[in-house]
Amino acid sequence: MPSTTQDDVSTSLLLASVQATLDSAQESMDAVRAMLSPGRGIVGSEEAALSAAIRTVPRWHFAMLNDLERNDAFEVAIERVLPPGAHVLDIGAGTGLLSMMVARAGAASVTTCEQNPMLAEITRQIVAQHGLSDVINVVSKRSTDLVVGVDLPRRADLIVSEIVDCGLIGEGVLPTVEHAREHLLAPGGLLLPESARLYGALLDSVAVDRLNRVDYAAGFDVSLLNGLSTRGHFPVRLPTWPHTLLSPEVELYSFDFAAGPMADGSAEVDIPVTETGEAHGLAVWFDLSLGGGVRLRNSPDNLASHWMQAFVPFAEPVALTKGDRAHLRLAWQDCRLSASKISISTTMKGQK
Ligand SMILES: C[S@@+](CC[C@H](N)C(=O)[O-])C[C@H]1O[C@@H](n2cnc3c(N)ncnc32)[C@H](O)[C@@H]1O
Repeated sequence: MPSTTQDDVSTSLLLASVQATLDSAQESMDAVRAMLSPGRGIVGSEEAALSAAIRTVPRWHFAMLNDLERNDAFEVAIERVLPPGAHVLDIGAGTGLLSMMVARAGAASVTTCEQNPMLAEITRQIVAQHGLSDVINVVSKRSTDLVVGVDLPRRADLIVSEIVDCGLIGEGVLPTVEHAREHLLAPGGLLLPESARLYGALLDSVAVDRLNRVDYAAGFDVSLLNGLSTRGHFPVRLPTWPHTLLSPEVELYSFDFAAGPMADGSAEVDIPVTETGEAHGLAVWFDLSLGGGVRLRNSPDNLASHWMQAFVPFAEPVALTKGDRAHLRLAWQDCRLSASKISISTTMKGQK
């Protein structure tokens, strides 16, 4: 009988954990279906599975669906750009909202895909509830797994999506659009949104920096935790934290979803310093061009937006003097924004 090796044990453990994940996903799915069946209460054993299902759905879906500016902007843009008789692909159904807008605007047919099976199931039910199941086909898959001719009848004349986070790229819009453009969009087809610009300013805020950095707590050095601090950008509601912007708002970069490069990359940016202080990072927001002249911004003055701003921390605070110019590198990689100092030039002392 062959002896059991460490590799065998690791493989068995891995398979067991995969099976457990699949089992619990199936149980969660069954619990969601039970929840959606009229008159069928949740029995005790389904409660835990339903809790697991709930944990797979980020809480921001509720705030997002209640963001009237966002919803209206998408609906107006869809009405303005939808080609007559179009077949539309909606990437990332959520609850099917954009698909239903597209159907209401008169699309011939809609395919929508959703990577979260619980949300795909909810979308199917909501679409049925509105009598739109003949127009909207819900596919429980990631867009990158869709097969034309199987999951959607043909390449789409219009692809709509709302897969942007506070820093634009955090939900994978760049690789998703790159794949969709190449494999799922008909020649001459349209993308909604069509482009986006990133804006930002140098941020002096110990309070924001402390959301991701620690030294001492009650006299104990706990700075080892900094090894686990967030890499890249994360959301902050800027007006709620004490802060000073050390520069005006500047355009950092622009992405052309229709034709521009979507790969990981970086850009050098030159920012005038208008206040003296310590920059802890960049405050960043987007300006999304949906199409038909419709735009959406999550700038700090847009308090109603469910999108917060993105904080892109520097590795260490950078001392700046009014009149300096901060020469930085902004990078987008693995769906994360990062920023680093290249140099600071001052009119008084040259490079420093
Ligand atoms: C920000 S929500 C928007 C939902 C809906 N489109 C709306 O506007 O109300 C994005 C949704 O897209 C899904 N998603 C993101 N990337 C996806 C992809 N490449 N394929 C399928 N679903 C995706 C997420 O699971 C999430 O439910």
